[in-house]
Amino acid sequence: MVGFVNISTCFFIFLLVLAVGVEGRAFFVFGDSLVDNGNNNYLVTTARADAPPYGIDYPTHRPTGRFSNGLNIPDIISEEMGWEPTLPYLNPQLRGPKLLVGANFASAGVGVLNDTGIQFVNIIRIYQQLNYFEEYQQRLRALIGIDEARKVVNESLVLITLGGNDFVNNYYLVPYSARSRQYSLQDYVPFVISEYKKVLMRLYTLGVLRVIVTGTGPLGCVPAELALHSRNGECAEELMEAAELYNPQLKDMLKDLNDEIGRKVFIAANTNQMHMDFISEPQRFGFITSKIACCGQGPYNGIGLCTPFSNLCPNRDLYVFWDPFHPSEKANRIIVQQILNGDNKYMHPMNLRTMLAMDPKA
Ligand SMILES: *[C@@H]1O[C@H](CO)[C@@H](O)[C@H](O)[C@H]1NC(C)=O
Ligand SMILES: *[C@@H]1O[C@H](CO)[C@@H](O)[C@H](O)[C@H]1NC(C)=O
Repeated sequence: MVGFVNISTCFFIFLLVLAVGVEGRAFFVFGDSLVDNGNNNYLVTTARADAPPYGIDYPTHRPTGRFSNGLNIPDIISEEMGWEPTLPYLNPQLRGPKLLVGANFASAGVGVLNDTGIQFVNIIRIYQQLNYFEEYQQRLRALIGIDEARKVVNESLVLITLGGNDFVNNYYLVPYSARSRQYSLQDYVPFVISEYKKVLMRLYTLGVLRVIVTGTGPLGCVPAELALHSRNGECAEELMEAAELYNPQLKDMLKDLNDEIGRKVFIAANTNQMHMDFISEPQRFGFITSKIACCGQGPYNGIGLCTPFSNLCPNRDLYVFWDPFHPSEKANRIIVQQILNGDNKYMHPMNLRTMLAMDPKA
């Protein structure tokens, strides 16, 4: 009987490996609230999206921890690829064959720097996300063996979204923040970029070969910043300057990394340009506004958090911003289309479709 169980278990795993081989790649997600799909639900932190109306347009119409009315960017990438959505790494259901789908390690509030988001207390900082990825790989090896596990990782797709919080929830969090007393903005940006390079190098040494790295959006144009700094709807100047310094330096750093590695592992997604398109011509994308959040209160619905007591728009698809900081599902869908298909203005050195076509699975 025991022998029988073992054989059928082996056969089951064999079938799973076969299925993954045919169906797709594992998908790993790292970063902040733009891509967190529920890890913070398992932590004692104030950075969470587990109350209504978050999730109002999610298939279950319930909050999940995603900072969106519905799906977020990694969900839509999985959907476009025909993959199951990844589970949050801290979700106890992520075990056994589910490990083959990949995992989402992201945690709202984190940045490149360890001191970013300290006000949220208990979040999974980026080095801890990478430690969890190592732990994940041990669990994967126990499930399918060393060689197959390495193959799953080296054929996988990775998405990493970091950096916005190093400005919003660190340098500019309070006037005279520790980092702003230590660095001018001109010096802070290269410091963050050099720390980010170390993070990405560590990720590469963990065996991944296809990584999409998003830049920040135009940080000064989010409803939260408009509410604080804008008289006539113009974007907040200092944060705009931060994004204008950060994004090109990020792209250059990724190019340096690829040159050092001798392979185009890292792709830069110009999310700043994608958002600027929404801001300059919201109507072209079917939006009525890029300034007012769907859910919030005060000017631009940009003050405080999105809660059950906030103003809530009836049609989320008409808004670029769901809450004072995060895009709506509709905006996320347009961003993913650019990640997949965008030209050199949006994706450098290539878009996701080209990357996956160039590197067919073995
Ligand atoms: C952040 O923390 C990690 C590990 O905890 C450490 O290796 C790294 O050097 C730290 N970064 C900085 C800039 O202090
Ligand atoms: C991926 O892993 C497999 C299994 O260990 C190995 O045979 C293959 O050479 C690896 N490919 C790359 C590009 O590292």
